[in-house]
Amino acid sequence: MDSCKGAEQKLKLLIEFGHVLIEKRDLDAMLHTIADFARELVEADRCSIYIYDKIHDTLWTKVAHEVGRITIPASKGVAGYAALSKEVQVVVDAYNDFRFNPDVDMRTGYITNQIIAIPLLDQKGETIGVLQVLNKKEGHFTFDDAEMLLFVANQASAALETALLYDEIRTTHLKLITKLSSAAEFKDEETSCHTKRVGEISALLAECIGLDEEKVDLIRATAPMHDIGKIGIPDAILLKKGPLDESEFEKMKEHTKIGYNILEDHENEFLHAAALIALEHHEHYDGNGYPEGKRGDEISLPARIVAVVDVFDALTSDRPYKKAWDYDKAFEYIQSREGLQFDPLICYHFIENRAEIIRIKESLKDEKNSLD
Ligand code: C2E
Ligand code: SIN
Ligand code: SIN
Ligand code: FE
Ligand code: FE
Repeated sequence: MDSCKGAEQKLKLLIEFGHVLIEKRDLDAMLHTIADFARELVEADRCSIYIYDKIHDTLWTKVAHEVGRITIPASKGVAGYAALSKEVQVVVDAYNDFRFNPDVDMRTGYITNQIIAIPLLDQKGETIGVLQVLNKKEGHFTFDDAEMLLFVANQASAALETALLYDEIRTTHLKLITKLSSAAEFKDEETSCHTKRVGEISALLAECIGLDEEKVDLIRATAPMHDIGKIGIPDAILLKKGPLDESEFEKMKEHTKIGYNILEDHENEFLHAAALIALEHHEHYDGNGYPEGKRGDEISLPARIVAVVDVFDALTSDRPYKKAWDYDKAFEYIQSREGLQFDPLICYHFIENRAEIIRIKESLKDEKNSLD
């Protein structure tokens, strides 16, 4: 049996690996690829990639072959040794090695004999994770194996650092904007769940009409901002208990343009999408909406989706000016406005998915003081 792959074959693997890294922007998918690759490269039985959590001083498996998520103290075990010493650890007889922590085996039922654990370091030389392979299929891990894994680990570290940073920026960014949207909503809607529901139900419809995952995610994240412009509407109008008079409603309509002006950034795909939804979510399919009287597919698709979902959620919620409608009445209303206010295709999917929509609505019930 061939315990070492030829050098050429390994080089080919390495080149393929570089391409995959560049192509995969998704962190989880990327780490899976790295783990599969590392396992194949050194003919190991398993590979795990741990992320180092500095705050809790733990390592947790972001990816692990055959085992679920495991969290271990960074002060214990071979992976912990690698994380804290920032040096490669090679273990050939685990149960007779002082560095080994048998707790993980006890939990998983796996028997570990050999380990290579490689620290993943960021640009500053701080540990961000550990790449670990267990049990060579034939024979023993060699220093060549460790050296090749080090190469993989260097690439993995760079990619992981970028991905973690990108993730953090994106999360912060989203949180900030979502909080801002909730701040506007809080005033007139007692609760903060309307925006979340509009995001989730809009994403469901986007999926049903066949948009790809990236677009669906974009809609989920941007739809909640549709009413951010209400922040610029005087409370006397926004919180009025009765119907609005004509001039008050004219003022209210400005929330679409105000939202657009807050969000628009042509260079940022995310903000541009959010801005268009804010601008167009009260346009009607037949051209009788506002602010511009756009019709049909002059209205962007995400805005046509949000238009339906927003009205549904407004109808089935209490507002300062009205009580919630029951589901039957709301669905009937949506259907009755098909082709007039709403895009027929979206109406169709809305009606088709009634049960799932109600499930989402019920799962995101209004609660006071839930800004997070
Ligand atoms: P909103 O409360 O989020 O309502 C969004 C949309 O849901 C409304 O857009 C409308 O298309 C639909 N909708 C809500 N309640 C009803 C209803 O009882 N009957 C019908 N047929 N549709 C309803 P619209 O009309 O462009 O209103 C935009 C925003 O203006 C509303 O957002 C709300 O903040 C405010 N608004 C509208 N009507 C009144 C009102 O009578 N009193 C007060 N205080 N505000 C109002
Ligand atoms: C190499 O380093 O390319 C050879 C690998 C090996 O034989 O383990
Ligand atoms: C350890 O790092 O000591 C535990 C290795 C394992 O079995 O996963
Ligand atoms: Fe609105
Ligand atoms: Fe709304």
